[in-house]
Amino acid sequence: TSREEQTALEANEWVVKLYHNLLRNTKEGKSGYEYLLSRGLTEETIDTFKLGFAPNSRDFTVKFLDGKGYKPQDLLHTGLFSTDKEGNPQDRFRGRVIFPIRNHLGKTVGFGGRTLGDGQEPKYLNSAESDLFQKGRMLFNFDLARSEIRKTGQVVVFEGYNDVIAAYQAGVRNGVATLGTSLTETQARLLKRYAEQVVICYDGDKAGFEASYRALQILKKTGNHVRIAMLRDGLDPDDYIREHGAEKFKRSIIDAGLTATSFMMQYLKQDFNLSVEGDRLQYVEKVLDEIAQIESSVEREHYLRELSHAMDLSLETLASDLEPRLRKRA
Ligand code: GTP
Ligand code: MN
Ligand code: MN
Ligand code: MN
Ligand code: MN
Repeated sequence: TSREEQTALEANEWVVKLYHNLLRNTKEGKSGYEYLLSRGLTEETIDTFKLGFAPNSRDFTVKFLDGKGYKPQDLLHTGLFSTDKEGNPQDRFRGRVIFPIRNHLGKTVGFGGRTLGDGQEPKYLNSAESDLFQKGRMLFNFDLARSEIRKTGQVVVFEGYNDVIAAYQAGVRNGVATLGTSLTETQARLLKRYAEQVVICYDGDKAGFEASYRALQILKKTGNHVRIAMLRDGLDPDDYIREHGAEKFKRSIIDAGLTATSFMMQYLKQDFNLSVEGDRLQYVEKVLDEIAQIESSVEREHYLRELSHAMDLSLETLASDLEPRLRKRA
């Protein structure tokens, strides 16, 4: 890190404290605090993640940092400001609850801010990308989750910070999130270094289903072992925990994650109308392509049986259709 980045990191630490104190202890921050409580977060969780509130002002934060001796040019690297027409920094986050975003060393390199209501746009605002803050190269909560990831050999990847925080409060402490972008190869490689198994737990809507597919393809490339924990009815993990509780989330969602092949068997169904003969056969071919990628012959047979039941085809037929695929692979 350059000297400017070092200064920005220090300024960020001040602002984490400022916003958190505002949220916890002041009248100005009360609406933010109550918003988080209304989402089911406890005081302890709010403190663990140092969640905060940025007041609706154009220069509250600029002035605070000025009082600490930081010059405007120091502030441009913090991710907390935008510039006005004259190029002067002004507060980027206004009237939002604040989620500090730390890198793997626990340094706050960026911030996320959410509106208190559901009307305003955009709902979330993140710090702008910089050398310090590169969304595609980091994972939210990796620093807090790291020891649990090591211990369990498993990491759970969520879509949003609220999902990580809700899961953490529910006792799932090996969760991380991408910051509103698709999982990158860099992130997948990072996960591979620490965890035997990656559980994808995205939102239970169409976007989450598609994103799970894309994440799976990336994780396959980097050779990670993947499970896909699927939610339904448009619920995301945070919604689900609030509705069904921590135990059910762990048991029925995380521990019940689908294998890559089972997920693909579901995913591929979308493209076909399985009541039409020709479509059924094409679907079967696609699934056989997936099964052919499995190393273990015991596992292959397991899925062949499943397919045989589901599609009402004999195991022998499916096995002989799989043969040429296996030869091509070898
Ligand atoms: P809540 O409504 O607060 O529960 O949000 P969420 O965490 O469920 O977010 P959602 O599923 O809508 O989106 C997942 C992630 O995408 C969020 O955590 C953000 O990081 C990101 N995201 C969502 N909406 C926006 C947006 O309007 N702007 C930006 N920059 N990112 C967004
Ligand atoms: Mn979503
Ligand atoms: Mn969501
Ligand atoms: Mn949402
Ligand atoms: Mn949500």
